[in-house]
Amino acid sequence: MRIRCPEGNSSCAAVSLSLNNCPTTSIVHYSKMSRQLLSGHKVEQASEEEVTSMEIVPFVRGMVRILPEGWLYPGSAPTYLDKIYNMKFRSDDVMVMTFPKCGTTWMQEIVWTMLHNPNLDNPKGNEAIWFRSQDISLDMHMDAEAMGGKLWNPIMEKFEKMCPGGRVEDGVSLQILEATAGPRVIKCHYPFSLLPPEMLQSAKVVYVTRNPKDMMVSFYWFWKDCSIFEYRGNFENCVRQLMNGTTLFTPYWPHVKEAWQKRHDSNVKFVYYEDLKADIMLELRKLNEFLGTRLCEEKLEAVAQHTSFSSMKRKGDNHEKDFFGETKFNKNETKASFYRKGTTGDWKHQFSPELQEEVDSWIEENVAGTDICLKWALGQ
Ligand code: A3P
Repeated sequence: MRIRCPEGNSSCAAVSLSLNNCPTTSIVHYSKMSRQLLSGHKVEQASEEEVTSMEIVPFVRGMVRILPEGWLYPGSAPTYLDKIYNMKFRSDDVMVMTFPKCGTTWMQEIVWTMLHNPNLDNPKGNEAIWFRSQDISLDMHMDAEAMGGKLWNPIMEKFEKMCPGGRVEDGVSLQILEATAGPRVIKCHYPFSLLPPEMLQSAKVVYVTRNPKDMMVSFYWFWKDCSIFEYRGNFENCVRQLMNGTTLFTPYWPHVKEAWQKRHDSNVKFVYYEDLKADIMLELRKLNEFLGTRLCEEKLEAVAQHTSFSSMKRKGDNHEKDFFGETKFNKNETKASFYRKGTTGDWKHQFSPELQEEVDSWIEENVAGTDICLKWALGQ
């Protein structure tokens, strides 16, 4: 049964009710509440209409918009965002930051391998990448009704082992990260503006972006079959939601623009998925310098092989099962995977000419007046 709290009768205390307090009842809180994050952002509850129109599995505390940019996240996100804002990053931390479906997993594996497994003989390298590289934007997903207030069983087991006495509500992924020895490779889908400004004085950030049309195709297929989202809309709707900033993780452009503005910071490396595909060795050499890993050409060649799409996909099925257990994907599980096609230009098989035109105009409008460099020609 779902209870909707009456409009105008909200408080943060009511919003913080958890499944534990209320084991057989889920409370979706749509009433208007407003609070401020430590980052200075304002939090507003998304309306019931907005949430319903997203056509994904509901979140126990509904969804929030983080203003002024309007980032859309599950209602639990503000709690974790404040914890992250207070986090002490270490001088050997490397964060892989992306808007979802832009090549995060690939870059996580590249960076982890360069830092921890350059000889390809580290037994930990056989573990799923998500065990080796914690996602600081993951804990908010525990709020999905499908998750029941926790993460997947294998990661919960790891949490209990690594963080005895840790409270789930303080963030499973965040506490595992705290207990992880360096150099840590951190995954993050949050944008720069929600992270502590002093982070770049210590940690390095590799930001990966991708042709938004390919991101949209990747997003759609993943969204559709992943059990914490189970997106029910069609492809066109998904694309429009991504363009209009009306689904989880959006808006897209402010995410990219914030990173673009920081690209000259000596602790930031701005990378294009298309460049990785076009000349992986060139990109690995640049990363080698950025990370200070000093790997010789031969080792970089080995990293390239080890992190190739075919190599990662081969191990991917087992890795996904190891990390997510059997629960990540819904019945169509064959389609959703972190390793789908791994190509550039797959959008051409999915977009109608009209939709392509619409998205190209959206891209044009959003890069107009900026010096953001596109690595793909519009219409291609
Ligand atoms: P497609 O769905 O277009 O195939 P993320 O890791 O950010 O969720 O991004 C997932 C996308 O990266 C998927 O794109 C996936 O196939 C692709 N990908 C994963 N590993 C890759 C690799 N080693 N080489 C190239 N692409 C990879």
